[in-house]
Amino acid sequence: MHRRVLFCLACLPVYLLVVAVPTPKLQNDRNGNIGKFWHISDLHLDPTYHVTEDRTKVCLSSKGYPASDPGAFGDFMCDSPYQLILSAFQFMKHSFPQPDFMIWTGDSPPHVPAAELSTQQVIDVIANTTHTIREFFPTLPVYPAVGNHDYWPQDQLPTSTNEIYQALAKLWAGWLEPEALATLREGGFYSQLIRPQLRLVSLNTILYYGPNKVTENMTDPAGQLQWLQNTLEASRQNMEMVYIIAHVPVGYLPYARDTTAMREVYNERLVEMFRNYSDLISGQFYGHTHRDSIMVLLDHQGKPVNSVFVTPAVTPIKNAREPYSNNPAVRTYLYDPADYGVLDIWQYYLNLTEANREGSSEWKLEYTLTGAFELTDARPQSLLELALALAEPGSKAFHKYFKHFMVSYNDTITCEGDCKSTQTCSVMFLDRDSYSACVKKMGKKK
Ligand SMILES: *[C@@H]1O[C@H](CO)[C@@H](O)[C@H](O)[C@H]1NC(C)=O
Ligand SMILES: *[C@@H]1O[C@H](CO)[C@@H](O)[C@H](O)[C@H]1NC(C)=O
Ligand SMILES: *[C@@H]1O[C@H](CO)[C@@H](O)[C@H](O)[C@H]1NC(C)=O
Ligand SMILES: *[C@@H]1O[C@H](CO)[C@@H](O)[C@H](O)[C@H]1NC(C)=O
Ligand SMILES: *[C@@H]1O[C@H](CO)[C@@H](O)[C@H](O)[C@H]1NC(C)=O
Ligand SMILES: [Zn+2]
Repeated sequence: MHRRVLFCLACLPVYLLVVAVPTPKLQNDRNGNIGKFWHISDLHLDPTYHVTEDRTKVCLSSKGYPASDPGAFGDFMCDSPYQLILSAFQFMKHSFPQPDFMIWTGDSPPHVPAAELSTQQVIDVIANTTHTIREFFPTLPVYPAVGNHDYWPQDQLPTSTNEIYQALAKLWAGWLEPEALATLREGGFYSQLIRPQLRLVSLNTILYYGPNKVTENMTDPAGQLQWLQNTLEASRQNMEMVYIIAHVPVGYLPYARDTTAMREVYNERLVEMFRNYSDLISGQFYGHTHRDSIMVLLDHQGKPVNSVFVTPAVTPIKNAREPYSNNPAVRTYLYDPADYGVLDIWQYYLNLTEANREGSSEWKLEYTLTGAFELTDARPQSLLELALALAEPGSKAFHKYFKHFMVSYNDTITCEGDCKSTQTCSVMFLDRDSYSACVKKMGKKK
């Protein structure tokens, strides 16, 4: 009975009208004077996805491994079917009131061997996701960042103009101003004033990503670090606040000991620059890990100076060797329009197993940051309080945090010992010296 609804695109809006979008109550009444924006990341559309008898043939992105429990909305061994992406946007479209803008931190193409794609196919997939977003949100400003999969071959993003950066500048011309498009075309990064006194800086952190051979040994690939420094300096002069967005995050991976997400040398420089300009940076927003995590940047005196957020993916894919994955996820942030400080996260998810079983997608609120952890807001001081609570032995907050890390994929998987200390050290320590000290101290405690 659900089948017809499911595969009839024109029917979807009618069907969704009856689904109430959960809107959490705002923590404190500011007379509605709160801003909101969407954050989506890692869509990874797999156009080959189709439910079929032979589970090894469901999607190319499972790389020959059998799909685990394939259904209309996807499978944990596969990247997103188009149906999953549509269901996310259908849900978001009916959220009320609509957020002010959307950030989109990259990775549209599927995880498949390089031979299965080409420059043209990568451009086609990004065109597809771009046009899909525009169909659903024709008037919403959208600010994208490039991901390591948004290139062919993947990860090898160049330091000067090329066919793909040029295609992106054409595709995103409706959202970005000429000055932003000019640097996007040259190096895959840009900045733009997006609200009164708020500048968004979209970095191409794939230039700093380990697997990118093009930039090996370069001190400042594409001159982006110098450009960033100049941009931040100009923002300081103009009394602007800044949001940083990018695909690959700063800091250490929450699931791999002693491993920065980008090359360590670039991480050290970025972290130092963010500390130098922390008074103007009111938020940093990343993707790439596909999991939900938080970081708080401390200055050299241990004072919390920046809130850093890593959003989980829309794609549910996991590697065959990984014990867990993530449910599909999208989120909104609440912000204070007075200083653009981040006030809360409203994290939404689709229970993939349930959606496939029911034949319909009901996106739900997973948690609010302030509600789940009893915080006043998502500003650096509050995130430090959270970080300290997570590191406590037997912390109930950590149990919850780790459940959210997997977007409620599986409640019975636990994270203790080294798993937990790797997680908690990565929350508070973003540079080599402080991170190493944390890991060493945790080792001694055992
Ligand atoms: C995107 O690709 C899917 C197939 O994977 C197709 O059905 C859909 O029409 C495309 N959408 C756009 C806007 O190009
Ligand atoms: C980078 O430097 C290392 C060590 O000096 C060298 O082996 C390697 O070939 C260099 N890579 C490139 C792309 O220049
Ligand atoms: C940060 O500021 C310090 C002190 O002003 C300066 O020495 C250093 O070069 C700056 N680092 C970066 C990466 O901007
Ligand atoms: C998702 O749905 C499955 C199947 O109905 C259920 O077992 C599981 O508990 C649900 N997960 C969450 C987080 O609600
Ligand atoms: C959840 O994790 C537990 C413990 O690792 C495992 O035994 C169980 O099979 C998992 N459940 C699902 C639905 O993956
Ligand atoms: Zn990704």
